[in-house]
Amino acid sequence: MLSAINPSALKKQFPIFKRKIHGKSLTYLDNAATTQKPQAVIDTITDYYTNHNANIHRGVYQLSQEATGLYEAAHATIGRFIGASADEIIFTRNTTESINLLAHSLPPLFGKRNELLLTELEHHANLVPWQQLAKRAGMQLKFIRMNSDFTLDLADAEKKITSKTALVALCHVSNALGTINPVQKITQLAKAKGALTVVDAAQSVPHMPVDVKRLGCDFLAFSGHKMYGSTGIGVLYGRKELLERMPPYMTGGDMIKRVSYHDAEWNDLPMKFEAGTPHISGAIGLAAAVSYLQKIGMENIRKHEEHLTALALEQLKKFSVTIYHPGINHGAGIISFNLRGVHAHDVASLMDDHGICIRGGHHCAMPLMKKLGIPGTARISFGLYNTEQDVAAVMIALQSIIKKFGVKV
Ligand SMILES: Cc1ncc(COP(=O)(O)O)c(C=O)c1O
Repeated sequence: MLSAINPSALKKQFPIFKRKIHGKSLTYLDNAATTQKPQAVIDTITDYYTNHNANIHRGVYQLSQEATGLYEAAHATIGRFIGASADEIIFTRNTTESINLLAHSLPPLFGKRNELLLTELEHHANLVPWQQLAKRAGMQLKFIRMNSDFTLDLADAEKKITSKTALVALCHVSNALGTINPVQKITQLAKAKGALTVVDAAQSVPHMPVDVKRLGCDFLAFSGHKMYGSTGIGVLYGRKELLERMPPYMTGGDMIKRVSYHDAEWNDLPMKFEAGTPHISGAIGLAAAVSYLQKIGMENIRKHEEHLTALALEQLKKFSVTIYHPGINHGAGIISFNLRGVHAHDVASLMDDHGICIRGGHHCAMPLMKKLGIPGTARISFGLYNTEQDVAAVMIALQSIIKKFGVKV
């Protein structure tokens, strides 16, 4: 399969790749943690602060109106990107905050249902907030099992989604294993039983086409910094009808229509959930990142990353490594592996000597690592600018690590 895009040309649009690390070209393969930023996004943020900076929704003067216009347009751009309307897009700090918002504001919609259903593959961000809610509200926490091939056990999902289920919350793509979960099937099962659905899309929105209507989910969360935008800006999508029925997460300025000394009336969506001065430049920068991604095309990005994943999986198999990936048909561009007898941190640290950034550790998925019986993994995760040469660089570095540790191949 040929790559659908020219990643070497795209790499040139990211100024950080001019850097040398330990005298070597930078090979960045930790995109699941955060992505690098294209000049187009950096320029948009610089332009905002250089030419349009003012607080939003508060000034009658031109600058404030410009800033407000740009901020509101960002809601619309991001909404269109995932098949939602502008008022269904709430800006948060990140995926973590989006899920915390839900864990705080959703329970009044649960009625008598008292079970929260997650999967065994969740990032702590889509686990700990629900654990805390379960403790606070006396709810039961259940988990859809993972099969031995790292895919989700659909039969188990079918068994566990019942009329007691208040909510099914699952990742679209596992940040630790790359598994692409069958979200559509799960949301259908949930809907049939009247349960709400939350999708943690932190690892899917930057890498493949995502449409909330097609997925059939009620809520979807993702982070700007993992999709070529800045840190400190995240998104929560929610179905309007549900957001309207939910109480706000934070209260204060901007999220109100009228306030008296003893009471307040909430603002319209999405402001009701955006208390205080938001990350204006982050939102505008994220809209620029979305435009950048749309120009390349999400289908093309997916195909390109699929190609690199297949290539890396094939080459890794030649080494003495254990691979934790469900295979190209069920997995995204995230590959976890362990080199026999070498700690994942050592692999990551020795890769750095070669100018290669990969992650070693539990990937904020401690229960999943425990289930796998390992402390962690080394993890390669692809972005749109990665090349076949990047894959080759990893294999050369691995060879030298194997030699250093005397691993039997
Ligand atoms: C699947 C998944 N969910 C949630 C998060 C949390 O993202 P953030 O730290 O931006 O809130 C991550 C980050 O790695 C992730 O990979």
